[in-house]
Amino acid sequence: MRNIRDLDIREKKVLIRVDFNVPMDDQGNITDDIRIRGVLPTINHALDEQAKIIICSHMGRPKGQRQDKLSLAPVAKRLSRLISKEVKIAPDCIGDEVKKMVEAMQPGDVLILENLRFHSEEQQNDREFSKQLAGLAEIYINDAFAVAHRAHASVVGVVEFFDQCAAGFLLQKEMDYFNRSVSEPRRPLVAVVGGAKVSSKLGALRNMLDRVDKMIVGGAMANTFLKSMGYEVGKSKVEDDLLETATELLIKSKNQGVKLYLPVDCIVADRFDPEAETKRTTIQEVPGDWMILDIGPATTLLFSEALEDAKTIIWNGPMGAFEMDAFSRGTMAMVERIASSHALTIVGGGDTDVAVHKAGESNNISYISTGGGAFLMLMEGKTLPGVEALEKH
Ligand code: 3PG
Repeated sequence: MRNIRDLDIREKKVLIRVDFNVPMDDQGNITDDIRIRGVLPTINHALDEQAKIIICSHMGRPKGQRQDKLSLAPVAKRLSRLISKEVKIAPDCIGDEVKKMVEAMQPGDVLILENLRFHSEEQQNDREFSKQLAGLAEIYINDAFAVAHRAHASVVGVVEFFDQCAAGFLLQKEMDYFNRSVSEPRRPLVAVVGGAKVSSKLGALRNMLDRVDKMIVGGAMANTFLKSMGYEVGKSKVEDDLLETATELLIKSKNQGVKLYLPVDCIVADRFDPEAETKRTTIQEVPGDWMILDIGPATTLLFSEALEDAKTIIWNGPMGAFEMDAFSRGTMAMVERIASSHALTIVGGGDTDVAVHKAGESNNISYISTGGGAFLMLMEGKTLPGVEALEKH
């Protein structure tokens, strides 16, 4: 895959697709700007080359309707502060007014187009919409890893209308780290998979079982595995329709020679509430009317030992309901363990990055992905449509 450095972008009009779908509070303040900081190397390179930088992104899911609270205006402000330069915001992403603004751009100017998803054509990968978007620039750069799993107009359709396309540094880096950790890993390769549902990670679990040496399963999804093995898990969240699938995966792990680790003890609560009564119990003794909300200390020890000789660790999904302090210990202990490992450590998807930041350990992880769904799709062994479009170009 070519990257931005392979193209001559000097003083050219460059359309850069980024993922500025950042979390905001009720007052419209950005609460985490990692995705904005992530594309700064690409934007700074384009600034060094005096390109005319036209940035496009989606924000939220406005379903083709204009919604002020999903405007990219706050993002333009934040980007302006980060690059110490004026960043203009266009009133739309296509149309005559936008074209005029682009025509008036000088080398080194930065313009953000308004939320692409204010047009339903974006998500429909509409050809005419792609063409109009492409008509604004001479070169296309995709630096939007976090949305590369969506076959949308600005990610896929747009590519056919450009002579020159390439990946930005963030997309390139995300793909390089993932490939290093999964396609050509230093072994043992250990996957740590958590989160609420087996169903949302079924593809990832199946594919990773073909690749890893060990798999650690925590979070509510472990309950389905435990129940399929005959343990009573009380009122814990379980996907009863996937009990057979869980058994299948356990058999697959055995056949593949993958060492699979499940919780041996847990923190149970009498209800799903931060103020709930809690206690620690073994998996064999979960009370019938209580629910498992975190892994216990013996499990933390077991999982830590399983990680001891790891050379590569890939982690997706928390070990418990870590958003509530009473059930955060297991996830936080995993963060500490993985952060102190000498292995190549890759974290992505779900709330795993949130847990790492909360623990203040982001600098001790080799790579934290900016993608949720895109990261999971790679774990499923699939090709990202956005990457495929660039590679086929
Ligand atoms: C994300 O946050 O995962 C990406 O921005 C994609 O958003 P989407 O799930 O609304 O397509």
